[in-house]
Amino acid sequence: MKRIALGAHFPSMGQHVAAWMHPDAQIDGGHNFRWFTRMAQAAERARFDFVFMADTVGTRDGDMRALSRWPQYMAHFEPISLLSATAAVTEHVGLVCTASTSYYEPYNVARLFGTLDHISEGRAGWNVVTTANAAASHNFSRDDHYDVADRYKRAREFVEVVKGLWDSWEDDAFLRDRATGSYFDPAKLHRLDHDGRFFKVRGPLNLARPPQGHPVIAQAGASEDGMELAAETAEVVFQSKSRMQDAQAFYAEVKGRMGKYGRAPGELKMCAGLNVTVAPTEAEAREKFAYIQSLIHPDVGRELVSVELGGADLSDLPLDGPIPWERIPTESVMSPSRLAAMRALVARENLSLRQLYERYAGSRGSAQIIGTPTQVADMMQEWVEREACDGFIIQGSYFPGGFDDFCQMVVPELQRRGLMRTEYETRTLRDHLGLPRPRNRFAA
Ligand SMILES: Cc1cc2nc3c(=O)[nH]c(=O)nc-3n(C[C@H](O)[C@H](O)[C@H](O)COP(=O)(O)O)c2cc1C
Repeated sequence: MKRIALGAHFPSMGQHVAAWMHPDAQIDGGHNFRWFTRMAQAAERARFDFVFMADTVGTRDGDMRALSRWPQYMAHFEPISLLSATAAVTEHVGLVCTASTSYYEPYNVARLFGTLDHISEGRAGWNVVTTANAAASHNFSRDDHYDVADRYKRAREFVEVVKGLWDSWEDDAFLRDRATGSYFDPAKLHRLDHDGRFFKVRGPLNLARPPQGHPVIAQAGASEDGMELAAETAEVVFQSKSRMQDAQAFYAEVKGRMGKYGRAPGELKMCAGLNVTVAPTEAEAREKFAYIQSLIHPDVGRELVSVELGGADLSDLPLDGPIPWERIPTESVMSPSRLAAMRALVARENLSLRQLYERYAGSRGSAQIIGTPTQVADMMQEWVEREACDGFIIQGSYFPGGFDDFCQMVVPELQRRGLMRTEYETRTLRDHLGLPRPRNRFAA
């Protein structure tokens, strides 16, 4: 059995909408570097490939009364700074975070992630997102969000420019030779001279080529445009499919598109978001999950469904009645793929508003498992064997407990099955994941 790719997703207090209400949750998780250090070191002790910090460049708009009970992204460190500090207190684990192609400039992103790659000695990864949160636009001299198609066109060009900037210097450009008085070889310095629809960037970057050549490119969009961008550029994809058959279809779809970009399917690791609640017996695991579910305030549940539906107003709907089909939007400027997933669920199962938010509260539409260590490992193994994914991004319901449970109970079982390493044998994130090091486009 081949080894699976494994990341740990650390949304502030936990992935569950009621995470911070759990008495054992780190209540100031979004603003506490010592806490984050502890989480990243736990992931490293468990031999994860990488830790991941999601991001959005702004607070969320919506019902502030509800959001005051659901503070995700309201109190949230800037993740590149956070991971740069984390690099100094970890040695092996990969460090992946989000930066938006809609609200950054490519030169900044190339420099920031290039620097993170140097600081961490080859452990950086960039999650390319176009930003789902429309409210972010108001922080960047705009009145509204870019529409979806434009966002993805810009993203494509953005990634090209960033990779080109990382290639500014050939790997051996810096001679640092006092005897000849030559610090670098000018023949190995390259200007990008990019002039495209969205960006005009001359380069070069004032930073040596990153240790990995290029930091690992991750991607989390699942719409039509998102899949195309993933097939062309992504080396890790985060997906949120709750059912194995949907995950298998998505896996085949994205990998099937890679050929036209001259890429082999093995050059992309598909990681399924997975919310895990584990305990020695299934009954205990169910009890744990029921407890955190009992902490959801109905205002938060309503707000959660509204966000997934792209900002729909559901304030007048009863919690225990079905959601009238005509009240469900057909388009979302935020995330077409998340809207499509929720539309499909409503059409399939005719859930009440309460049932719908209870279904989404822990996993936000990703896969979820509640059970014993063996049951969790069985499910993970089956998904990988049946080509639903190449690995997982583990999302604990609350931190640190939800994640520690996974490390203490599931990791040894995965190691016993040979699905996870017991020691780091490789140095860089690329090597952990078995990804090739990109050649410099300018080198002979
Ligand atoms: C594990 C995971 C992590 C994600 N992280 C982010 C993130 O940090 N920021 C963001 O805007 N979107 C993130 N997304 C993606 C959004 O859910 C959404 O799919 C994306 O913004 C693109 O929309 P699209 O799929 O409709 O193209 C993440 C998705 C998954 C599954």
